[in-house]
Amino acid sequence: MSTTKTATDTTTDLQQALVDALTQPGHGISSAWLYDQRGSELFEEITELPSYYPTRTEIGIFADNLASIAKAIGNDCLVVELGSGSSRKTVPLLNALDRSAGYVPIDISADYLREAVSGLTTKLKDLPVIPLVADFTTAFSLPPSLPAHSSRLGFFPGSTIGNLTAAGAQSLLQHCHTLLGQEGMFLIGIDLDKSPDVLIPAYDDPEGVTAAFNRNLLVHMNRELELAIDIEAFAHEARYYTDPARIEMHLVAVADQTLTVAGQTYTLAKGESFHTETSHKYTVEGFAQLAKRAGWQLRREWSDSEQRFAVLLFDASK
Ligand SMILES: C[S@@+](CC[C@H](N)C(=O)[O-])C[C@H]1O[C@@H](n2cnc3c(N)ncnc32)[C@H](O)[C@@H]1O
Repeated sequence: MSTTKTATDTTTDLQQALVDALTQPGHGISSAWLYDQRGSELFEEITELPSYYPTRTEIGIFADNLASIAKAIGNDCLVVELGSGSSRKTVPLLNALDRSAGYVPIDISADYLREAVSGLTTKLKDLPVIPLVADFTTAFSLPPSLPAHSSRLGFFPGSTIGNLTAAGAQSLLQHCHTLLGQEGMFLIGIDLDKSPDVLIPAYDDPEGVTAAFNRNLLVHMNRELELAIDIEAFAHEARYYTDPARIEMHLVAVADQTLTVAGQTYTLAKGESFHTETSHKYTVEGFAQLAKRAGWQLRREWSDSEQRFAVLLFDASK
């Protein structure tokens, strides 16, 4: 499995991300840090929750439209997936494609990716699978030796692109335009803006799984950075904002907190929070405009009957 970072790089980066979060206004930390092995497992549990509509809605869109999606993509395509996780949505897509050339699953969660890939061999028969551990928010490269193919399809389901700012999403789309080439296509799942009555329970379920997923960031930091953050001193909160439409997840200090990181002491006052994830909610038109600025032309779109989620196919503009 190709990897772009060592464990020491990762620990140093996490420590820097925490210090930045403690010292900068807004106390934001990249949602990528939510995904250690346990975080990835908890995310899979979230996808099964009754209130978490995005996964089952997107899977429904794929199931209902698989033949037309596969036809629109065409033959001999190399599929490059960003934030592949369990690859659950990709297996049916790869099996429906006519002579796909290979599959490059990319994820930051190295152990989880290794496990997911080991389970793919039987499901994908003889299809070459070339996994890559990388952070897609950086200028990553594809693995050096790839099977022969006539075109490349970027696949980015799960509305994970919504975790990036508009500027971050545009820069990722531009970088992928270069990686996927002139014949490139991009199939992207986006979560559509809707009532907070539906959105909030999706990110704050009564079962408490999303709260455990969010708090696992602190567990991850305690383990990786040998800290002693009191996990119970932070409450999970999901907040809906407009302009731009988004859900934010926070870990709110329920009492004043003092944290010692690399010998330095930092404070977080009661009521202040780590901002751990943003999930932008788009309209099809709004996202298509953003993608166009990065060189991608919307060709097809598929949605569910309640217009909760959309799967969009783009072509690289020449
Ligand atoms: C919301 S989950 C989606 C998983 C899967 N694609 C799906 O649709 O169910 C996000 C996935 O992206 C990965 N991820 C998050 N941030 C990442 C980053 N910056 N670089 C690479 N992978 C990332 C996580 O480890 C996780 O597997």
